[in-house]
Amino acid sequence: MSKENRDTLEVYEKLFQEYFNGTKRRIKNRGAEKTAIKAKLEHSFWFEGFKTLGNHADILEIGSADGLGAKALAEYGFNVTASDTVGGFIDELEKNGLNPIKYNVLIDHPDCQFDGVLAWHVFVHFTPNDLKIALKNIHSILRPEGCLIFDVQTRGEKSGEISEWIDYDGDYHLGAKRFFQYYSESAVRKIIDDTDFKIIKFERHNSDSGIGWLRFVVSSES
Ligand SMILES: C[S@@+](CC[C@H](N)C(=O)[O-])C[C@H]1O[C@@H](n2cnc3c(N)ncnc32)[C@H](O)[C@@H]1O
Repeated sequence: MSKENRDTLEVYEKLFQEYFNGTKRRIKNRGAEKTAIKAKLEHSFWFEGFKTLGNHADILEIGSADGLGAKALAEYGFNVTASDTVGGFIDELEKNGLNPIKYNVLIDHPDCQFDGVLAWHVFVHFTPNDLKIALKNIHSILRPEGCLIFDVQTRGEKSGEISEWIDYDGDYHLGAKRFFQYYSESAVRKIIDDTDFKIIKFERHNSDSGIGWLRFVVSSES
């Protein structure tokens, strides 16, 4: 686990309430209708990706934070386990009735297996070496022919090497800098090539802020 990820988790430990406020600001500023459309598009990518696992598949969400993603997956019919490693997020997930587990994907090795894993907007805080460790650890908790859905941020083809400590000015201004890593498509493909995962779907999206997202569905089938 990198110092970058550890220090970012400390920021979340202290400022989780500000993160929740950021989500509220984002919904207010974007408007309920646009927020719902955006969520629907993201969710359809997950539902489509997990489709082959069957409607009642066991899905683990890593880095659930406020639990909006886990809730959407559960409403779709999946058997969802929400998780996070930050105390304030775990408390919130419990308050929302999501029965979370405390799970740090870089250091914990839970004795359980899942059909699918979702890590959405989580690897943004991972160095390339963290990403390699995370993929290896996730592979070990997936059942055969299981499936992982994740995304990373990008700033173009050279962005495999770009990272920064930043407290964004927008809705998610927390009051402390977090570590962000930006990946190129080829950098992520290279990392995946060195694992036992196989890419089954890839999409590129541009966000309102101008930073792009690379979305992957990968299968543990070797
Ligand atoms: C930007 S938030 C995204 C939250 C949510 N998944 C979403 O889509 O809005 C990043 C999340 O990743 C979690 N996270 C960061 N590093 C982690 C790690 N090593 N293990 C598990 N979760 C981690 C944070 O606690 C936080 O909940």
